[in-house]
Amino acid sequence: MAEQISRMTVPRFMALKDKGRKISMLTAYDFPFAKLLDEAGVDAVLVGDSLSMVVQGHENTLHVTLDEIIYHAEMVGRAVERALVVVDMPFPTFHLGPTAAVAHAARLLKESRCQAVKLEGGVEQAATIATLVSAGIPVMGHVGLRPQTVHQMGGYKVQRDEERLMADARAAEQAGAFAVVLECIPPAIAAKVTGALRIPTIGIGAGNECDGQVLVLHDLVGLTAGYVPNFVRQYADLRTTVRQAVEQYCQDVAACVFPSEGQAAK
Ligand code: KIV
Repeated sequence: MAEQISRMTVPRFMALKDKGRKISMLTAYDFPFAKLLDEAGVDAVLVGDSLSMVVQGHENTLHVTLDEIIYHAEMVGRAVERALVVVDMPFPTFHLGPTAAVAHAARLLKESRCQAVKLEGGVEQAATIATLVSAGIPVMGHVGLRPQTVHQMGGYKVQRDEERLMADARAAEQAGAFAVVLECIPPAIAAKVTGALRIPTIGIGAGNECDGQVLVLHDLVGLTAGYVPNFVRQYADLRTTVRQAVEQYCQDVAACVFPSEGQAAK
C-alpha cells in the first residue's frame, strides 16, 4: 500500500509556533528542486519573486510577471506532495487595491497548486491582506527589508526602525496573515516581534529567535554566481560540482572516451 503522506496545511504550519518546533522554508522555482526539497523534509516551499534575480537573471525582483510566476508555481505545485507551497505576489499585483489583489491571488491559487500567497508590506497593505483572507486566501506577510521597494529604500539595507517593524508585523497579524517573514532586521528586534505575535515569524537575516527560517535555495546550495548576503550559510558548492562535471564531459567527448560501448543504444 502507498505510504500516506501527511500534508502541511496552514493551520498545522501555524500550530508549529505553539509547539515550539522551528519551521524551515526554502525557495524553489522548478519541478526537480521542489521535489528534492519536499523529499528532504522542508516545512514550506516558497516560489519567491527572487525568481526574477535567481532564475531570470534580472538585477532586482521587480521584473517577474504574474504569468511567469504562475508558470513556475505550477511546476513546484506539481512536485510537492507534503510541504506547504507559498507563492509570492509579484510587483505590482497587490498594489492596485484589494479587489485587483484578490483577482491576482485567485489566479495564483487556481492555476498553480499553491496553498497560500505572500506579499510585502505591513500597515499599508493591511486592508488588502484582510480582503484576501476574507476571500479564503491564506496570506503570509513580509516586513522589514522589502526588496520590491529597492528604489525607494536606495538599496538593500538592514531595517532598524523598531516601532515601524513592530507596527507592520502587528498590522499583518491583525489583518489575518497566518505568518510573517522578517527580512534583514536586527536579531534583538526580530526576537521582540516574535514574542509579540501569535503567528509564526520566519526570519531571513533576522537572527535565530524567529519561529522559523527561510533562505533562497540557490544561495544555500552554492548556485548563486554573484553577491551572496552574509546571513546565508552555504551548505554545498553546486557551481563547482556542475562546472567540473561539464568540463569533464567536454574533455571526454573531445578525447572520444564518451560514450563508451556500454553507453550506446542496444
Ligand atoms: O522572494 C523570495 O525569495 C523571498 C524570500 C527570500 C523571503 O521573498
